[in-house]
Amino acid sequence: MRIVILGTGAGGGLPQWNCGCPNCEAAREGRIPSMSQSGIAISADGINWALVNASPDLRSQLAANPALRPAGLRGSPIRSVLVTNGDIDHVAGLLTLREGQSFNLFATPAIHDVLAANPMLAVLRPELVMRREIALDQPFGLVEGISATLFAVPGKVPLYLEGETVETGQMGEQTVGVELTSDRSRVYYIPGCATVPDWLKSRIAGADALLLDGTLWTDDEMIRAGLGIKTGRRMGHVPVSGADGSMTALAEVPMQRRIYVHLNNSNPLVDPYSPERASVEAAGWQIGHDGMEITP
Ligand code: MLT
Ligand code: MN
Ligand code: ZN
Repeated sequence: MRIVILGTGAGGGLPQWNCGCPNCEAAREGRIPSMSQSGIAISADGINWALVNASPDLRSQLAANPALRPAGLRGSPIRSVLVTNGDIDHVAGLLTLREGQSFNLFATPAIHDVLAANPMLAVLRPELVMRREIALDQPFGLVEGISATLFAVPGKVPLYLEGETVETGQMGEQTVGVELTSDRSRVYYIPGCATVPDWLKSRIAGADALLLDGTLWTDDEMIRAGLGIKTGRRMGHVPVSGADGSMTALAEVPMQRRIYVHLNNSNPLVDPYSPERASVEAAGWQIGHDGMEITP
């Protein structure tokens, strides 16, 4: 199995267009690496590829990755696109895939409803882009040699569908994790997750790799930095640090590789020279970077 992390940033990326925080400034000045928005590409044979999530940065992500270039005059090795929720950072890139190319578009029925309600996505013509509804907990063929299973993780509806009150630990079809298996390996991709319950730890145990929501270091970091009014949990993202953070929750769960993805620009982990980064790496985690390839 080959996985290319196309984008390691959360919504907005690093630097974010309207953010002058120290991390965004450091990225603009080239002192720390930039991060494009969240998504991965996966293949078992190196020929047929699936995307999991389609970020607004997809065009440049595809251009930067030789494995994803067309083999002939027109065409693409991308056979399928799976989206794990309806967030802008995971679906806006579908508009980038509008140039008459055929692929499967996989999502839960609830997410397909959200996509179907967007008239702009009608540009993905039904005779070319097959919208396939995937039930939770049912394995399906994602792409040649790779099977995927969607499972509910604690989350919420997309930002643009939030009503007056928002349930942030909702379990259902709105936010899913993905189990990816080939004949040799089992990998989890969970870019959005509000808490790490015990059942999730049991499920992940023994995995070849985990790519997990690393949006925020602490729950209130955006508030304290003067960048926003929401906590991570309110946004549907478990923090990395702290007694109830994902690092502590998973400390005793065995797996081959653990990698944080979907990092917000406010997160000190995006700075390779930060003490927080050193502490996470000492605990056995890696921080994803754009273009990072793993072969679990
Ligand atoms: C998130 O992960 O919280 C979303 O990407 C927020 C957004 O839509 O910008
Ligand atoms: Mn996001
Ligand atoms: Zn910033």
